[in-house]
Amino acid sequence: MLCISHVFLHKSKSKKNDLSVIKKQKDAFIKNFDPSTVKDSNNTKILFFSDLHAEYCFIPVEKVIDTIKKANVDAVIFGGDICNDPLNYKKGIAYLNAIKNTCDELNIPFLGVNGNHDIFLTEDQIKEALFTDLRKTTVTVKDVLISGVNDTGKHNRVWDDNPVKDTNGMTHLLVSHNPDWLIEASDRKQLDNIDHMISGHIHGGQFCFPFRIEIKAIRKDKLPRRKVIDGVFDGGGITFFISRGIGCVLIPFRFLAKPEISVIEIEK
Ligand SMILES: [Fe+2]
Repeated sequence: MLCISHVFLHKSKSKKNDLSVIKKQKDAFIKNFDPSTVKDSNNTKILFFSDLHAEYCFIPVEKVIDTIKKANVDAVIFGGDICNDPLNYKKGIAYLNAIKNTCDELNIPFLGVNGNHDIFLTEDQIKEALFTDLRKTTVTVKDVLISGVNDTGKHNRVWDDNPVKDTNGMTHLLVSHNPDWLIEASDRKQLDNIDHMISGHIHGGQFCFPFRIEIKAIRKDKLPRRKVIDGVFDGGGITFFISRGIGCVLIPFRFLAKPEISVIEIEK
Protein backbone atom coordinates (compact mmCIF):
# COMPACT_ATOMS: atom_id res chain seq x y z
CA MET A 1 0.00 0.00 0.00
CA LEU A 2 1.22 3.48 -0.88
CA CYS A 3 2.18 6.04 1.77
CA ILE A 4 1.59 9.67 0.79
CA SER A 5 3.77 11.74 3.07
CA HIS A 6 3.76 15.46 3.82
CA VAL A 7 7.24 16.87 4.30
CA PHE A 8 8.24 20.31 5.58
CA LEU A 9 11.72 21.57 4.86
CA HIS A 10 12.49 24.24 7.47
CA LYS A 11 15.67 26.29 7.69
CA SER A 12 18.51 24.23 9.13
CA LYS A 13 19.76 24.81 12.65
CA SER A 14 22.95 22.78 12.20
CA LYS A 15 26.48 23.96 11.42
CA LYS A 16 27.46 24.23 7.76
CA ASN A 17 29.51 21.32 6.38
CA ASP A 18 29.52 19.59 9.78
CA LEU A 19 27.92 16.14 9.67
CA SER A 20 29.14 15.02 13.09
CA VAL A 21 25.50 15.25 14.25
CA ILE A 22 22.52 14.46 12.00
CA LYS A 23 19.15 14.87 13.70
CA LYS A 24 15.90 13.32 12.52
CA GLN A 25 13.13 15.93 12.21
CA LYS A 26 10.07 13.93 13.23
CA ASP A 27 7.87 17.03 13.46
CA ALA A 28 8.61 17.82 9.78
CA PHE A 29 7.10 14.58 8.48
CA ILE A 30 3.49 13.42 8.38
CA LYS A 31 2.72 10.00 6.93
CA ASN A 32 -0.51 8.89 5.26
CA PHE A 33 -2.00 12.36 4.91
CA ASP A 34 -4.77 13.49 2.57
CA PRO A 35 -3.19 15.65 -0.19
CA SER A 36 -6.41 17.60 -0.66
CA THR A 37 -5.83 19.08 2.84
CA VAL A 38 -2.69 20.96 1.74
CA LYS A 39 -3.30 24.58 2.62
CA ASP A 40 -2.76 27.55 0.34
CA SER A 41 0.42 29.33 1.41
CA ASN A 42 3.49 31.03 0.00
CA ASN A 43 5.47 27.82 0.50
CA THR A 44 6.83 26.19 -2.65
CA LYS A 45 5.13 22.80 -3.01
CA ILE A 46 6.69 19.88 -4.83
CA LEU A 47 5.47 16.39 -5.55
CA PHE A 48 8.54 14.15 -5.18
CA PHE A 49 8.74 10.49 -6.15
CA SER A 50 11.82 8.38 -6.70
CA ASP A 51 13.12 4.90 -7.55
CA LEU A 52 10.48 3.88 -10.05
CA HIS A 53 12.16 0.59 -11.03
CA ALA A 54 9.25 0.16 -13.43
CA GLU A 55 9.22 -3.65 -13.70
CA TYR A 56 8.86 -3.94 -9.94
CA CYS A 57 6.63 -0.93 -9.25
CA PHE A 58 3.05 -1.67 -8.27
CA ILE A 59 1.89 1.89 -7.65
CA PRO A 60 -0.49 2.87 -10.49
CA VAL A 61 0.57 6.10 -12.16
CA GLU A 62 -3.01 7.34 -11.70
CA LYS A 63 -2.35 7.46 -7.94
CA VAL A 64 0.62 9.78 -8.45
CA ILE A 65 -1.36 11.93 -10.89
CA ASP A 66 -4.29 12.17 -8.48
CA THR A 67 -1.95 13.38 -5.73
CA ILE A 68 -0.33 15.96 -8.02
CA LYS A 69 -3.77 17.38 -8.79
CA LYS A 70 -5.17 17.28 -5.26
CA ALA A 71 -2.11 18.87 -3.62
CA ASN A 72 -1.98 21.68 -6.18
CA VAL A 73 1.83 21.53 -6.34
CA ASP A 74 4.13 23.98 -8.13
CA ALA A 75 6.38 21.29 -9.67
CA VAL A 76 6.97 17.54 -9.84
CA ILE A 77 10.42 16.02 -9.33
CA PHE A 78 11.55 12.47 -10.14
CA GLY A 79 14.54 11.22 -8.13
CA GLY A 80 15.95 8.65 -10.58
CA ASP A 81 16.10 4.87 -11.24
CA ILE A 82 13.72 4.38 -14.18
CA CYS A 83 14.03 0.60 -14.47
CA ASN A 84 16.09 -2.36 -13.31
CA ASP A 85 16.81 -3.87 -16.73
CA PRO A 86 17.40 -1.51 -19.67
CA LEU A 87 15.44 -3.96 -21.85
CA ASN A 88 12.34 -2.90 -19.91
CA TYR A 89 12.97 0.85 -20.03
CA LYS A 90 9.88 1.57 -22.18
CA LYS A 91 7.67 0.62 -19.24
CA GLY A 92 9.33 3.31 -17.15
CA ILE A 93 9.14 5.82 -19.99
CA ALA A 94 5.37 5.26 -20.33
CA TYR A 95 4.94 5.93 -16.59
CA LEU A 96 7.02 9.10 -16.68
CA ASN A 97 5.37 10.34 -19.88
CA ALA A 98 1.95 10.08 -18.22
CA ILE A 99 3.23 12.32 -15.43
CA LYS A 100 4.72 14.74 -17.96
CA ASN A 101 1.32 14.98 -19.68
CA THR A 102 -0.30 15.87 -16.36
CA CYS A 103 2.34 18.51 -15.65
CA ASP A 104 1.73 20.01 -19.10
CA GLU A 105 -2.02 20.09 -18.45
CA LEU A 106 -1.41 21.89 -15.16
CA ASN A 107 1.30 24.09 -16.63
CA ILE A 108 3.89 23.09 -14.03
CA PRO A 109 7.45 21.81 -14.62
CA PHE A 110 8.41 18.14 -14.49
CA LEU A 111 12.03 17.88 -13.32
CA GLY A 112 14.34 14.96 -12.66
CA VAL A 113 17.77 13.43 -12.22
CA ASN A 114 19.20 10.01 -13.02
CA GLY A 115 19.84 7.20 -10.53
CA ASN A 116 22.57 4.60 -10.31
CA HIS A 117 20.43 2.13 -12.30
CA ASP A 118 20.03 4.62 -15.16
CA ILE A 119 23.69 4.40 -16.16
CA PHE A 120 22.65 1.35 -18.21
CA LEU A 121 20.43 3.59 -20.35
CA THR A 122 21.67 5.85 -23.13
CA GLU A 123 21.22 9.60 -22.75
CA ASP A 124 18.72 9.45 -25.64
CA GLN A 125 16.67 6.85 -23.76
CA ILE A 126 16.63 9.03 -20.62
CA LYS A 127 15.52 11.98 -22.75
CA GLU A 128 12.42 9.99 -23.76
CA ALA A 129 11.19 10.38 -20.15
CA LEU A 130 10.61 14.08 -20.99
CA PHE A 131 11.53 15.53 -17.61
CA THR A 132 13.76 18.61 -17.54
CA ASP A 133 17.12 17.11 -16.66
CA LEU A 134 18.50 18.85 -13.57
CA ARG A 135 21.95 17.43 -14.30
CA LYS A 136 22.12 19.82 -17.21
CA THR A 137 20.24 22.90 -16.04
CA THR A 138 18.94 24.67 -12.96
CA VAL A 139 15.28 25.69 -12.70
CA THR A 140 13.57 28.34 -10.59
CA VAL A 141 10.16 27.47 -9.13
CA LYS A 142 8.60 30.41 -7.31
CA ASP A 143 11.57 31.64 -5.27
CA VAL A 144 13.40 28.29 -5.04
CA LEU A 145 16.40 27.50 -7.20
CA ILE A 146 16.48 23.78 -8.01
CA SER A 147 19.61 21.96 -9.18
CA GLY A 148 20.66 18.34 -9.53
CA VAL A 149 23.74 16.14 -9.62
CA ASN A 150 24.63 13.16 -11.76
CA ASP A 151 24.73 9.62 -10.40
CA THR A 152 27.59 7.72 -11.99
CA GLY A 153 26.58 4.32 -10.59
CA LYS A 154 27.91 2.06 -7.87
CA HIS A 155 31.21 1.15 -9.44
CA ASN A 156 33.98 3.73 -9.90
CA ARG A 157 31.59 6.31 -8.53
CA VAL A 158 32.42 9.97 -9.14
CA TRP A 159 30.72 12.59 -6.96
CA ASP A 160 29.79 15.83 -8.71
CA ASP A 161 30.60 19.21 -7.24
CA ASN A 162 27.77 21.48 -6.13
CA PRO A 163 26.60 22.76 -9.53
CA VAL A 164 25.53 26.21 -8.28
CA LYS A 165 28.15 28.84 -7.53
CA ASP A 166 25.85 31.79 -6.79
CA THR A 167 22.23 31.52 -5.68
CA ASN A 168 21.57 35.27 -5.79
CA GLY A 169 20.02 34.99 -2.34
CA MET A 170 17.43 32.41 -3.41
CA THR A 171 16.62 29.27 -1.47
CA HIS A 172 18.55 26.41 -3.08
CA LEU A 173 17.16 22.86 -3.28
CA LEU A 174 19.54 20.22 -4.61
CA VAL A 175 18.34 16.86 -5.94
CA SER A 176 20.74 13.94 -5.56
CA HIS A 177 19.58 10.37 -6.14
CA ASN A 178 22.02 9.06 -3.56
CA PRO A 179 21.96 11.01 -0.26
CA ASP A 180 25.59 10.02 0.40
CA TRP A 181 26.41 12.98 -1.86
CA LEU A 182 26.05 15.00 1.31
CA ILE A 183 29.05 13.32 2.91
CA GLU A 184 31.24 13.97 -0.10
CA ALA A 185 30.05 17.57 -0.43
CA SER A 186 30.56 18.36 3.26
CA ASP A 187 34.10 16.96 3.08
CA ARG A 188 34.74 19.42 0.25
CA LYS A 189 32.98 22.27 2.14
CA GLN A 190 30.41 22.59 -0.66
CA LEU A 191 27.23 22.94 1.35
CA ASP A 192 27.51 26.69 1.97
CA ASN A 193 24.90 27.77 -0.57
CA ILE A 194 22.58 24.75 -0.24
CA ASP A 195 19.47 24.98 1.95
CA HIS A 196 17.82 21.62 1.26
CA MET A 197 18.39 18.30 -0.48
CA ILE A 198 15.95 15.58 -1.59
CA SER A 199 17.02 12.02 -2.38
CA GLY A 200 15.92 8.43 -2.81
CA HIS A 201 18.09 5.37 -3.49
CA ILE A 202 17.86 3.58 -0.13
CA HIS A 203 14.24 2.35 -0.53
CA GLY A 204 13.79 2.60 3.25
CA GLY A 205 15.96 -0.53 3.32
CA GLN A 206 13.24 -2.26 1.23
CA PHE A 207 13.22 -5.14 3.72
CA CYS A 208 13.27 -3.92 7.30
CA PHE A 209 14.57 -6.80 9.36
CA PRO A 210 15.40 -6.65 13.10
CA PHE A 211 18.53 -4.60 13.87
CA ARG A 212 18.42 -3.46 10.23
CA ILE A 213 20.64 -6.34 9.21
CA GLU A 214 19.60 -5.76 5.60
CA ILE A 215 21.48 -2.44 5.65
CA LYS A 216 24.68 -4.15 6.79
CA ALA A 217 24.24 -7.14 4.48
CA ILE A 218 23.22 -5.44 1.23
CA ARG A 219 24.00 -1.74 1.36
CA LYS A 220 27.44 -0.25 1.02
CA ASP A 221 26.15 3.31 1.39
CA LYS A 222 27.39 5.36 4.34
CA LEU A 223 24.38 7.30 5.65
CA PRO A 224 22.19 4.21 6.27
CA ARG A 225 24.91 2.86 8.57
CA ARG A 226 24.34 5.99 10.66
CA LYS A 227 20.58 5.19 10.75
CA VAL A 228 19.91 7.92 8.20
CA ILE A 229 17.58 5.83 6.02
CA ASP A 230 14.31 7.64 5.36
CA GLY A 231 12.46 10.75 6.53
CA VAL A 232 13.58 14.32 7.20
CA PHE A 233 16.96 15.19 8.75
CA ASP A 234 19.02 18.23 9.71
CA GLY A 235 22.81 18.05 9.32
CA GLY A 236 25.68 19.88 7.66
CA GLY A 237 23.70 23.13 7.69
CA ILE A 238 20.90 21.84 5.46
CA THR A 239 17.62 20.03 5.95
CA PHE A 240 17.15 17.01 3.73
CA PHE A 241 14.56 14.38 2.91
CA ILE A 242 15.16 10.77 1.86
CA SER A 243 12.18 9.09 0.17
CA ARG A 244 11.56 5.34 0.31
CA GLY A 245 10.67 5.50 -3.39
CA ILE A 246 7.97 3.48 -5.13
CA GLY A 247 9.66 0.50 -6.83
CA CYS A 248 11.83 -2.45 -5.82
CA VAL A 249 15.21 -3.92 -6.71
CA LEU A 250 16.38 -7.54 -6.62
CA ILE A 251 12.92 -8.94 -5.94
CA PRO A 252 9.43 -7.42 -6.26
CA PHE A 253 8.91 -7.28 -2.52
CA ARG A 254 9.06 -4.80 0.37
CA PHE A 255 8.82 -5.58 4.06
CA LEU A 256 7.95 -2.79 6.52
CA ALA A 257 9.18 -0.22 4.00
CA LYS A 258 6.04 1.03 2.27
CA PRO A 259 6.40 2.70 -1.11
CA GLU A 260 6.13 6.45 -0.77
CA ILE A 261 5.36 9.61 -2.71
CA SER A 262 5.66 12.96 -0.99
CA VAL A 263 4.28 16.45 -1.06
CA ILE A 264 7.21 18.62 0.03
CA GLU A 265 6.69 22.14 1.29
CA ILE A 266 9.70 24.43 1.32
CA GLU A 267 8.95 26.96 3.97
CA LYS A 268 9.45 30.67 3.41
FE1 LIG B 1 16.56 2.62 -6.51
